[in-house]
Amino acid sequence: MPNHTPTNAGLLARSLSAVWHPCSQMKHYESFPLVPIARGAGVWLYDFDGKRYLDAVSSWWVNLFGHGNPRINAALRNQLETLEHVMLAGFTHEPVVELSERLRELAPAGLGHCFYGSDGASATEIALKMSAHYWRNSGKPGKTQFISLANSYHGETLGALSVTDVALFRDAYGALIRQQATVPSPDWRTAAAGESAEDVALSCAAQLEAHLQRHHENIAAFIVEPLVQGAAGMAMYHPIYLQRARQLCDGYGVHLIADEIAVGMGRTGTLFACEQAGIRPDFLLLSKGITGGYLPLSVVMTRDEIYQAFYADETARGFLHSHSYTGNPLACRAALATLDIFAQDDVLNANRTKAAYLNRIAEPLRNHSKVRNFRNTGMIWAFEVDTPHADFAQRCFALGLQNELLLRPIGSTIYFMPPYVIIEEEMQMLVARTLNIVGALA
Ligand SMILES: Cc1ncc(COP(=O)(O)O)c(C=O)c1O
Repeated sequence: MPNHTPTNAGLLARSLSAVWHPCSQMKHYESFPLVPIARGAGVWLYDFDGKRYLDAVSSWWVNLFGHGNPRINAALRNQLETLEHVMLAGFTHEPVVELSERLRELAPAGLGHCFYGSDGASATEIALKMSAHYWRNSGKPGKTQFISLANSYHGETLGALSVTDVALFRDAYGALIRQQATVPSPDWRTAAAGESAEDVALSCAAQLEAHLQRHHENIAAFIVEPLVQGAAGMAMYHPIYLQRARQLCDGYGVHLIADEIAVGMGRTGTLFACEQAGIRPDFLLLSKGITGGYLPLSVVMTRDEIYQAFYADETARGFLHSHSYTGNPLACRAALATLDIFAQDDVLNANRTKAAYLNRIAEPLRNHSKVRNFRNTGMIWAFEVDTPHADFAQRCFALGLQNELLLRPIGSTIYFMPPYVIIEEEMQMLVARTLNIVGALA
């Protein structure tokens, strides 16, 4: 164990020599250095020199109530004193039971059981397997195909990549992935002149119908990111698409999987994005914010009829999937503390006020001559920047750091997805400094 006090430079060198960082071409860190983080508090991350960064992306969309949240910290300390972990096959414990009961109360009615995984991608894998296995148990073993939206993102494991439509993440593994079909995304940025977001949604739903009509006998499920396709560059769409998708899936006997890994837990303005369309999916996937951004945990909530199709004397009809840390008590405790904060602080209402404030002060950004498609859903904002720089995302990230902001554009799309604890003064800083960065790079 090294006994010296870490420094930015020291930790950076050790990290590059020992850690293979995710979603990275490691060589690029020669020109765009890693950012060593010593500690976090609220919306702020601090390096070892005391320099701070406003975490405008909630550390990959996970953090809800700030870094080092005292209430989540206390809940975790208490849990540590009683039970850190026990396997969930053949055993159970209080945090996992309480969390499952509370999620059932909060989610659309009829999603009676929670199956647990660790990261978002494991929830996707679980839902895909469960859906196909349901059809097999129901005498329809030919229903093994899945559909997803164009530009969808559902995770990086092989099954999840098969329903992920991002060439950069998929192409190197093409030979390993089972090809699945995509249908057009209802992203309103694709609207023709005179077309509304609702028109786009309805015309995409018609194309979904055409696909289902032809292929439904082989299709197990349609997986969708409700309201906002995050990795597509915060593509937003009208909730009527989800209503039509629900009707079509019902009509053609296809499951609807709502991947709320990024958009659940209040991110779109309601606790679950599906609520805004008034629909109940067959599978509801949660992760990221479920633990307030503290610990890896994912949940697949399933409709009761699906659960019943696995309930039998034969072992092989059961869902024999598992991960060692399934339903980890510490992670469940962090999730319970997160739900407590939602209830005690009337978070969804408070967020509406914050979102209205940010929209007001962001007028100069919205009206900037080089900014297009300024959009907002709940606590997510995004816009495209007309820029001559092919490497806009890296430049913006670097300029952001110089301005105490952690921004991670997707291509030429800048987005804000801040922790819900952000205050007015921090929003002012975020908007004003982003405006300067846009000015410098446009
Ligand atoms: C919609 C969606 N699904 C799935 C995932 C995968 O989650 P994880 O990175 O935890 O595996 C992500 C991650 O960004 C996501 O945004």
